[in-house]
Amino acid sequence: MTTTAIAPTNIAILKYWGKIKGQYHIPTKSSLSFTVEKLCSTTSLAAGKGNMKIDFTLNGRKAKEGSKEHGYVSSYLTFLSETLPFIRNYDYQIVSENNFPTAAGFASSASGFAALLKALAGELDEFSGLRGDDKKLSALARLGSGSAARSIPSEGGFVKWDRGSGEDWEKDPVYSSYAYSLFGPEHWPELRIIYATVESREKKIRSLDGMAESVKTNPLYQAWVSHEESLLKNDMMEAVSKKDFEVLAHMIMQASNSFHSICHGTYPPIYYLKPKSLQIIDAIHKLNDGKVKAAYTFDAGPNPVIITRKKEEMEVLKLLDELVGEVNLFRTRPGTGPKYSKKHLL
Ligand code: DP6
Repeated sequence: MTTTAIAPTNIAILKYWGKIKGQYHIPTKSSLSFTVEKLCSTTSLAAGKGNMKIDFTLNGRKAKEGSKEHGYVSSYLTFLSETLPFIRNYDYQIVSENNFPTAAGFASSASGFAALLKALAGELDEFSGLRGDDKKLSALARLGSGSAARSIPSEGGFVKWDRGSGEDWEKDPVYSSYAYSLFGPEHWPELRIIYATVESREKKIRSLDGMAESVKTNPLYQAWVSHEESLLKNDMMEAVSKKDFEVLAHMIMQASNSFHSICHGTYPPIYYLKPKSLQIIDAIHKLNDGKVKAAYTFDAGPNPVIITRKKEEMEVLKLLDELVGEVNLFRTRPGTGPKYSKKHLL
């Protein structure tokens, strides 16, 4: 049999950047995101009795054994098999496609690992007890890439990834930290999300390595964690709950700036933003002078994601068109979580 899963990416408005337990991807702080409609990974998976031989094709290219891409999938399945030993009893044929540039800071690892886990869960009978348990599936996706935990909740929309507590991590490092939906996309249908591509080359410093350096070397790291965990997180959830765009927009921009200042304060410093990114930041602040119309947020890359509302979207698009060109803009909105499809890639 073959199972095909389609999983969306997500954009963090309160960032995850740092792990407490490295391999388990237990985060130092909670994070918040919007599930993104139309930007997704599609993964088809077929499993037959065997011993974990993996045949993996990504974006039309077969990944050789020993390659980076093959390594991501095989290390993930190997690590998952420590919790779910039945995974070792199969060989896998996996074909995956992203509909956006891989590794440009558009969080392809989030949708990629979420789609892989959902496909696996749909394909193997032994998953039947877990298949409908989004919290457990979110925790299991987290083991591939932290941000993938936020791409699992079926309801999608506005998602919170709880870091969990020390006691729980000790008892159960796998299932103690997971993401769940706070509000589905219908809660705030006016919201719009615009991805602008400033650069689509692969990013130089992977999140995995960058965040480990920030935790180790930035003297302000703990202060950032406690500020966001104890204050900003709750304020942001309240702003979304009340649909207060002005308040939320300010907090989104501040959280993005604080995250990048954590990167700059890492030693040696990590710079993800490019001159064009800074130009966009200035242009959004100028646009917001008087009335808040848009917010920017940047992940570990130079490409901004702009959050706005339907009534201001055209004005924001016009501005971005002048800065990066229409072909480099992608319009979307908050959407729902992963789905299964009958159209297979293999
Ligand atoms: C800046 O989830 O890619 O996008 O857990 O090491 O795979 P790993 O990291 P990853 O990091 C994402 C970092 C971020 C912020 C975020 O999405 O919260």
